[in-house]
Amino acid sequence: METIDLEQHFDAKLAKNEMIEPKDWMPDNYRKHLIRQISQHAHSEIVGMLPEGNWITRAPSLRAKIVLLAKVQDEGGHGLYLYTAAETLQISREELLDQLHTGKAKYSSIFNYQTLTWADIGAVGWLVDGAAIMNQVMLQRTSYGPYARAMVRICKEESFHQRQGYEIMCHLAFGTPAQKEMAQDAMNRWWYPTLMMFGPKDANSSNSANAIKWKIKRESNDELRQRFVNQTVAQAEYLGIKIPDENLKWNETKKGYDFSDPDWAEFNNIIHGHGPCNKERIGARVKAHENGKWVREAAAAFGKKQNAIDVAA
Ligand code: 3HC
Repeated sequence: METIDLEQHFDAKLAKNEMIEPKDWMPDNYRKHLIRQISQHAHSEIVGMLPEGNWITRAPSLRAKIVLLAKVQDEGGHGLYLYTAAETLQISREELLDQLHTGKAKYSSIFNYQTLTWADIGAVGWLVDGAAIMNQVMLQRTSYGPYARAMVRICKEESFHQRQGYEIMCHLAFGTPAQKEMAQDAMNRWWYPTLMMFGPKDANSSNSANAIKWKIKRESNDELRQRFVNQTVAQAEYLGIKIPDENLKWNETKKGYDFSDPDWAEFNNIIHGHGPCNKERIGARVKAHENGKWVREAAAAFGKKQNAIDVAA
């Protein structure tokens, strides 16, 4: 087929809401856009294991420890599905990881903040995973088949993570005054960074036009951020925890809350590698990768030996 026919065929599939699969022809910019987004997502999952993994040994009960351990392992699994989806776009795992380790690829801004108390684990589950789900439900219908299918299981697990976080917040908010204060302090520190997770305002979102055109994203950064705020206000009220925003107010005309912007200068600083924990996070990932070298070598050697046995048989 001529390129023009291939392009028409691609556009027709999108128009019919059919998935694009790895063997289908696709415009190079669509492929690059997906590699950027899926790999950023994969990196976010495995970097996201760090701030929470930090609390596994300090969880306040055996139950809390088992649940947190399972959650952090889920995030590792999400990274695996997403790297595998990205690899179907003609890029190797080594290249993807190299981009993370050298700072060429981004990962979610949210994981560059410290988890200072156990309440932060509650706030991360409730707010951060809550924001992640808000963004990711639409990705189950994204136009690229392997990404959409990976997102189905990820969303199910993220819902459990959100409940895990809200349960911790319930314990603290309905606990002693000191526990409630801890929950409020976590909310004060995580609210605005969570709003940043949805990306810059639509007017400044350089990738959104293509993402919407290609049905990679089905909703805009601002639409999802607004829905997240609308949903979270009632949850905070139930806990008796205050959202740290004097401008938060119901707006009957738009049937949603008005709210303050996060500090976009802080956001830009973080996504360009200058947040409170960027160096620490990348340092930890590089170290883990180096420590895992012998495992990769052993697995490759085993695979090679197995192939030789299969060929000889
Ligand atoms: N953190 C870091 N970088 C961000 C960002 C954030 N929160 N939001 C936007 N950016 C970057 C973009 O990557 C882009 O940079 P680039 O062009 O160099 O790649 C730039 O800021 C401009 O942003 P755009 O709005 O134009 O970018 P997108 O259209 O890609 O939108 C997004 C950003 C909403 C994050 C989108 O990429 C997306 O939906 N990604 C998939 C979901 C995802 O990655 N989620 C990570 C959340 S954490 C997580 O899932 C782990 C779980 O365990 C909690």
